[in-house]
Amino acid sequence: MIGFILNNERIETDLPQGMVLADFIRYKQCLTGTKLGCREGDCGACTVLVGTFSHGKISYESVTSCLMPLGNAQGKHIVTVEGVNTEGLNFVQQAMTDEGGTQCGFCTPGFIVSLCGFALSESKQDQTEGVLAIAGNICRCTGYKSIERAIERIVDKLKDKNPEDSLNWLVSNNFLPAYFLDIKYRMPVFQKNGADSISADSDIVFVGGGTDLYVQRPEEMYQSKMVHTLYRTDLKGIWKASGKCHIGASASTEEMKQSEIIQSLSPQTHDFFDLISSLQIRNMATVAGNLVNASPIGDLAIFLLALDAEIVLNAKGALRQLPLHSFFKGYKTLDKSADEFVQEVNFNLPSSGFLFNFEKVCKRTYLDIASVNSAASVTINSKGEITQAAFSAGGVAPVPKYLPETSAFLMGKIPSADLIAQSLELAQSEVAPIADVRGTVQYKRLLLRQLMTGHFMKFFPELY
Ligand code: FES
Ligand code: FES
Repeated sequence: MIGFILNNERIETDLPQGMVLADFIRYKQCLTGTKLGCREGDCGACTVLVGTFSHGKISYESVTSCLMPLGNAQGKHIVTVEGVNTEGLNFVQQAMTDEGGTQCGFCTPGFIVSLCGFALSESKQDQTEGVLAIAGNICRCTGYKSIERAIERIVDKLKDKNPEDSLNWLVSNNFLPAYFLDIKYRMPVFQKNGADSISADSDIVFVGGGTDLYVQRPEEMYQSKMVHTLYRTDLKGIWKASGKCHIGASASTEEMKQSEIIQSLSPQTHDFFDLISSLQIRNMATVAGNLVNASPIGDLAIFLLALDAEIVLNAKGALRQLPLHSFFKGYKTLDKSADEFVQEVNFNLPSSGFLFNFEKVCKRTYLDIASVNSAASVTINSKGEITQAAFSAGGVAPVPKYLPETSAFLMGKIPSADLIAQSLELAQSEVAPIADVRGTVQYKRLLLRQLMTGHFMKFFPELY
């Protein structure tokens, strides 16, 4: 039995936990405001909000319901476009209408829900963040300028929001209907995330956000026996302990973006995550999901390989730790047995002189699968010597590729133009790209050279 609140209604259902939430909403609840465009997490027409109760209050995140298993709704407040309707149009709907932000209207419910999520969010609420909140919503009609003007109105109004009593303010100012004020008193009855112990088995599918599984094999997922990990509190969190940064298996990509520890790796780290995926997908996609997926161009895998990360696997309570680069054995083949699941990833906290960079080339700048991606870290001591180096590259081998020879070659050396030239050559000898829809072998080799040059330009600008 799955229990949650859908808008203002309590739901209990025995339907398969692998059914996607969008189908439940549209075809079992007849709430047809939520649209289905792509079923791949790309268009945002199916966006809903997921409210999580914790420490006496509810935090809301936008997600694409076409990729969300019904089981992940357990204990949540799910909000569709029908659930943000007030007596007339709410403030967001009115702003979109006044600015001509809707034409055919197919995309509009997704935009409205994303922007209501933006109004509910506790992070910065300026025009840039408003636009980023809808980065995962595609509109074929408006040209976006009218939607951007609607966001300006919303941002302007939100300047008056009382951060101490945000929910009351949003209700009083017609952003949300009044029932939102009562939801927190009705949610604890459903809470059970993280309460059951988990063990892996060959016939059980571990599902985090499902952002890849539901794109690759949706029919199979519908009937699968599942363990839902996305909202398990025992697998969540990003924290420091014993000189390391620990990232729980179910930490989402958005949690990584917002983590002060991750942000401290470089001034640009916060922005790297906007390249990776839309907010809706970042709210669902987990660290473990990205690693177990074993895509040769998985962005988080490339990111973590350049931090010399280690992965911790759990088999019925027995933990096994190994370097992340050893985890990837071959194309979609992992050093992981059927009874193991990912518990966490960790890496040594950087010391002074640490520099980190991530680069990615795709057919479009944002929200696309990389043709080639690469990350690098170096640490420079007071004498100007490189005392630590780790380079990684995706799309140039059957696995997310750590470059051990290039990394080792730089150790103990003083950066120079000649050293960089030799490193670029050495990196080429460590990769074996294949031609595919994302480029020829020569193109991928050229991209790797360019991306690595990008790292060196950021690390050693005085050499350029
Ligand atoms: Fe397009 Fe869900 S239907 S993102
Ligand atoms: Fe037609 Fe956005 S108004 S797709």
